[in-house]
Amino acid sequence: MLVVANFKMNGNKNFFLKLNETYEKLKIKGTNVVLCPPFVYLSNLNIKNKNVCLGAQDISIVGNNKSTGQIGAYMLKEFNVKYCIIGHSERRAIGETGEMIAKKVKSACENKIIPIICVGEATKQDKSSAVKNQVKSALKYLQPGSKIIFAYEPVWAIGSGQVPTIKHINNKIKTIKAEANALGFSPKILYGGSVNDNNFLQLKTAEIDGFLVGGLSLDTNKFCKLIMGV
Ligand code: PGA
Repeated sequence: MLVVANFKMNGNKNFFLKLNETYEKLKIKGTNVVLCPPFVYLSNLNIKNKNVCLGAQDISIVGNNKSTGQIGAYMLKEFNVKYCIIGHSERRAIGETGEMIAKKVKSACENKIIPIICVGEATKQDKSSAVKNQVKSALKYLQPGSKIIFAYEPVWAIGSGQVPTIKHINNKIKTIKAEANALGFSPKILYGGSVNDNNFLQLKTAEIDGFLVGGLSLDTNKFCKLIMGV
């Protein structure tokens, strides 16, 4: 199982420094953990645990010296970042387009950072092919066979306390897999959206390879309970 913590715009230097101690002591078996702090705290995480590594929450598209405020893939590499969340619905909501996401995915892969591409329908009632289209669009500039991960995150489940049924998740996983396979990719697929310490065992019965966790990652005790239990 792969468990990814998306801290979003939360935490402070002290919070992230404390995680070093916590995760160093944690004897994790069979699960890999990716911690994705805000960029400015990447350097505060120096965890000595072979099951824990670093991820970023975004990556810049353009890679030249006229990119004020952007963080390029090679900079993330310097901080030992192995994964990068791309196309989170909170970024799509502030204007990130499919084209931008495709370019970010390409930039990550070119720099050997594994993209965790977020896809998901907007509402519970949405029966459109939105998820399929997001998958296709994100892979537009990528060489078949590149190492990628998808996170199925229904937008309506993020931070809402609502989770889809296992059947619903499995249907979407099937769609993501079919589209990715048809384009020459064999991604791992995570589930994200209101995963907590009470529902993760049930959610784990879906055909998923792990979780993308938001809110719960801020409660270190509960998040560790999830890591040790999956
Ligand atoms: P949540 O967030 O776990 O708080 O619902 C998940 C995410 O936004 O990735």
